[in-house]
Amino acid sequence: MERLDKFLSDSGAGTRSQVKLLLKAGRVTVDGRTEKDNSRKIDPDTQTVCLDGEVLGGKRRIVAMLNKPAGFVTATEDSVEKTVMELLPPQLRAMDVKPVGRLDKATEGLLLFTNDGDLLHRLISPKKEVPKVYYARHEGQAADADVAAFAAGLTLRDETVCLPAKLEPLGPGESCITVCEGKYHQVRRMMASRGMPVTYLERRKEGNLELGNLPRGAVRMLTPEEIEGL
Ligand code: URA
Repeated sequence: MERLDKFLSDSGAGTRSQVKLLLKAGRVTVDGRTEKDNSRKIDPDTQTVCLDGEVLGGKRRIVAMLNKPAGFVTATEDSVEKTVMELLPPQLRAMDVKPVGRLDKATEGLLLFTNDGDLLHRLISPKKEVPKVYYARHEGQAADADVAAFAAGLTLRDETVCLPAKLEPLGPGESCITVCEGKYHQVRRMMASRGMPVTYLERRKEGNLELGNLPRGAVRMLTPEEIEGL
């Protein structure tokens, strides 16, 4: 048994306070009967809850993609900085989603969120080696020796050894970098170790997912096919 307001919120009906208003307005039925009491206990396995006549399914697995703008830290809360959670619509926040991995405050681009703990751990596990593609603007110009050093697996200035990665020079001061791990400030540190400090960084792909034309600061739900592909 669980509280009706929690069930509604987990089903994406809104935050707890929004759900209270929906109940008050008589928009929720339990087994066909209007229910206004948010503390009412229900059994999601045997009872049918509807919002405006539509059946709700309880805790759905949510995976969403944000095009992160610079200036937000990847954290669920922070006493000083703005967090990526502030960019999510309240319904998503109410469904207990968390960021998958992290992007630095200054980094922009593709950041996933999910409320599925197992999926989250699978996606950030170093064993999974999900390739992530970054576009970087940087000082200097990537040369063949840099491409070879990335491919061999770089050793950073603090002796950290990186897995083999792909460096594709796009033009003067512009490169595409593909890495399969997520060490702290990884791309910035890799580029700095080759004398090419990064001035701008954007994640464009993660596994089979692409940022595409999702506007900066916007969020979209992944399709069931995209979630399968993860
Ligand atoms: N590498 C970095 O240096 N920063 C990021 O935000 C992501 C990868």
